[in-house]
Amino acid sequence: AFMLEASEISVLEQRVRETLGIDNCIVVPGNSDTQDWVKQEMGKRCAQLLEGMLHPNYTVAVTGGTTMAALAAAMPPIHTAENVMFVPARGGIGEQVENEANTICAAMAKRARSQYRLLYVPDPIGEESYQTIIEEPSVKEVLSIINRSNVVIHGIGDAMTMAERRRTPAPLVEQIKSGVAVSEAFGYYFDAEGNVVHRVRTVGLQLEDLDKAEHVIAIAGGASKARAIASYFKLGRNNLLVTDEAAANQLIKGY
Ligand code: F6P
Repeated sequence: AFMLEASEISVLEQRVRETLGIDNCIVVPGNSDTQDWVKQEMGKRCAQLLEGMLHPNYTVAVTGGTTMAALAAAMPPIHTAENVMFVPARGGIGEQVENEANTICAAMAKRARSQYRLLYVPDPIGEESYQTIIEEPSVKEVLSIINRSNVVIHGIGDAMTMAERRRTPAPLVEQIKSGVAVSEAFGYYFDAEGNVVHRVRTVGLQLEDLDKAEHVIAIAGGASKARAIASYFKLGRNNLLVTDEAAANQLIKGY
């Protein structure tokens, strides 16, 4: 089949909702593992969702990665409510500059004709520097904005893929190899049951902040991410997934 019928898509969406136990899921046709345009399609759907969610004075936190970068690139100009602010969810977590949260944040703010603030922190960061940096007034100000984000939009990665993309401490590599760490989102690594097994030391959004946000959107596709998506949603802090056909099919099959 070239294209899925709308009715087939809604069946997939319904089955993913049941599999993950979530209320909202959007599925776009294709497989983002092999087709770049699929990430852009997911991005467009995500941008539509975002437009419907914005209210005056809202803050939107975004993460990095290639899916989020595709979202920023494919985002049509949106008309936001007044005084909306975009911020990166967390400081540097080992992405190339074009896939960094800062870059994506600025690009999305431009499309939404909104303001933005950026976070400049070394990556990775030691414990001592971390404690000093979070006391810097300029950093503190941005962090306080991030911690009260109304909307969070983030990617999800396969733990091994992300560990290879980043400088990763040996104990974590072992946890991944032994199958303990399965997924990654905003610098947190999770096991198959959604427990946090490792956290990249950086400033910004903490897991608890998700509970305070009105909307949290996860955007992740590709058959290779099914296991990671399932693991992340066990956490139970997010109810909304934008994904693709290949990931959806794999999720339903039980990878
Ligand atoms: O590094 C930022 C990040 O959002 C990770 O938290 C996530 O695992 C990854 O990027 C997803 O990247 P991609 O969209 O390229 O698979």
